[in-house]
Amino acid sequence: MSDSNSYVMPTYSPQPISFARGQGSWLYTSDDTAYLDALTGIAVCGLGHCHPQVTEAIQQQAATLVHTSNLFQIDWQEKAAESLCTAAGIDSVFFANSGAEANEAVLKMARLYGHNKGFKNPKVIVMDNSFHGRTFLTVSATANPKAREGFFTLDDDFIRVPYGDIDAIKKAASEYDEITAILLEPIQGEGGLNVPKAGFSYLDQVRAVCDQHDWLFMLDEIQTGNGRTGKYFAFQHSLVKPDVLSTAKGLANGFPIGACLVSGKARDLFKVGSHGSTYGGTPLGSRVVNTVYDVLSNTDVMHNAAQEGDYIQSSLSQELSQYGVTTRGQGMMIGVVLPSETDCSHLVHNARIHEKLITDVRSNNVIRLLPALNFSREESDQLVEKLTRIVVKTLGSIRC
Ligand SMILES: Cc1ncc(COP(=O)(O)O)c(C=O)c1O
Repeated sequence: MSDSNSYVMPTYSPQPISFARGQGSWLYTSDDTAYLDALTGIAVCGLGHCHPQVTEAIQQQAATLVHTSNLFQIDWQEKAAESLCTAAGIDSVFFANSGAEANEAVLKMARLYGHNKGFKNPKVIVMDNSFHGRTFLTVSATANPKAREGFFTLDDDFIRVPYGDIDAIKKAASEYDEITAILLEPIQGEGGLNVPKAGFSYLDQVRAVCDQHDWLFMLDEIQTGNGRTGKYFAFQHSLVKPDVLSTAKGLANGFPIGACLVSGKARDLFKVGSHGSTYGGTPLGSRVVNTVYDVLSNTDVMHNAAQEGDYIQSSLSQELSQYGVTTRGQGMMIGVVLPSETDCSHLVHNARIHEKLITDVRSNNVIRLLPALNFSREESDQLVEKLTRIVVKTLGSIRC
């Protein structure tokens, strides 16, 4: 269906292709043409499409009980919360339905924390190039001015600093009163696959500043969580834990659910009536969270993500460094950086049309790879071959 006759509001400009089914790391059109999926629905289907255990859990629970509301105890929700707390070493969980909603809870907590201290205008430090969602509060926290344009966002409530720059945070601490929290992504996804200069020890540094000033240390692990970087959560590559953490995307492999996890001084901020959601943590969604958690914790899939991620990065470097191409990222969250700031977004279309490869471009010149955590070595090799051909062709013909 072309844009002009779609009834869908044009908030996206989708590629002119529709997939009929998916299996593992492959998507198929209705004529059964296979595409290698290196995007997994934007870091969502971490276990691949239609993972048999996930499919079985959805089918069984859909035939048993889908929804009751949080006016009743929900056994699967209790179990999912325990699983996530065990995975993160954190105390308790609020379930939402998406990443933005999980972050909405995170940011409301920061404001409440300030309110409890008697602050009049609590402020949260956020990062340049960050992305936290499209609700009013989360888009206010997001860096991209295009996403905020026209919405009278709460710009006074956020202090923006360069990502990875600990001195900028210390400077903000000396310049502003009433800071309550810092919110950041351990690796920035939408902002261009940015990794802090200091690597994950940046998180240790930020935690220390938060402790010094009694701020909440809040991590957005919506994209980096659920095994994506080779550990359950990316902060587990560091030595510290956050007070508040949000996750979604890979949490239920495509079933829409998000979660906000709290610990320490954030643990008791929300009380009965502070926050809520009709759908948050349904029996169906929570059972899928448990299933994904079981697969992640009882198989070598996270180890595979770490190993194949390293392999893909080193293979791409071997093939493409001669063209000035570099790679960055961790596990199955990889940025392939082309040597110019010229717009390379056409590469997404060329990769799809000529290589039957599904990928993405961020910040004009960064190819974003988010393959399934259980990618096989053969699939890694195919990805490297396909991407190498398309990058070489792109750089040769257009000098992007
Ligand atoms: C880091 C991060 N935070 C928040 C979100 C928003 O999640 P959702 O689209 O599920 O609302 C995203 C989505 O891309 C994200 O990558």
